[in-house]
Amino acid sequence: MRGRWPFHALRACTGMRGHLKKRQQRGKANPGKDRVTLDRAFSKAGMFSRTEALNKITSGVVKVNGKVVREPASWVSLSNDSIQCDGQTLRAQRKIYLMLYKPTGVVTSHGDPGQRKTVYDLLTGLEEWVFPVGRLDLDTSGLLIMTNDTALGEQMTNPLLKVPKTYQLKVNFHPTQEQLDQLRRGIKLASGETTLPASVKELRRNDKYSFLELVLVEGKNRQVRRMIEALGGRVMKLVRTRIGNLALGNLPIGHYRVLSRQELADLMKRPS
Ligand code: URA
Repeated sequence: MRGRWPFHALRACTGMRGHLKKRQQRGKANPGKDRVTLDRAFSKAGMFSRTEALNKITSGVVKVNGKVVREPASWVSLSNDSIQCDGQTLRAQRKIYLMLYKPTGVVTSHGDPGQRKTVYDLLTGLEEWVFPVGRLDLDTSGLLIMTNDTALGEQMTNPLLKVPKTYQLKVNFHPTQEQLDQLRRGIKLASGETTLPASVKELRRNDKYSFLELVLVEGKNRQVRRMIEALGGRVMKLVRTRIGNLALGNLPIGHYRVLSRQELADLMKRPS
């Protein structure tokens, strides 16, 4: 089916994802459209991640209309309340959408206890706070979307929307037709989970390796590697080349760029 992802319809009918779920667990109804919880106000404005905001709020450096508020779940109005952190007034930042070509050996997180390089080390010259939409393993390279638009982030990673992600991989064996069909139908992983049907093509092979393209509509942890392991093989190289309609194209490895308006519009559409 073509057209836009039914993001809003989905939200309305499930109402059970991410912060929406947390709000319900807190047992409060959202009293208005521009009203959000205090921790969310910071992430929505692109000022801090939700966790950073929680730390700031509970440490007592956040004021709402001049008064210290230490409760992250308190409701605030983005248009009527004056919110300050360490004396800095929260203002809605412009939304920014980037694509990054993550190399292997770089972690998809903010700060690494092992002092490894993170994707943030690659965002030189960027002033806005952004977060990665989904993750790529340390040993996977390829397309990573980074943005400060939390709604887009939630939408692109919502399992119910089944946004397709395309991977190219090199494996250490030559899969048979039956094995390719197993991947297509859905395969039982060592953990006992079964994968959803996927699109699978063998692109080429040499005497030792095969090169495959897999399109998945879900994102279990290390899913591609575990699917290949379920066939008794091993992934030697894994690159994500596409998310929905957005392709990595000729972006150099380790570089990032801002998405064009057209790319952003295309990302919002179901792939044709
Ligand atoms: N599947 C994997 O095994 N690893 C990734 O990073 C992404 C998909």
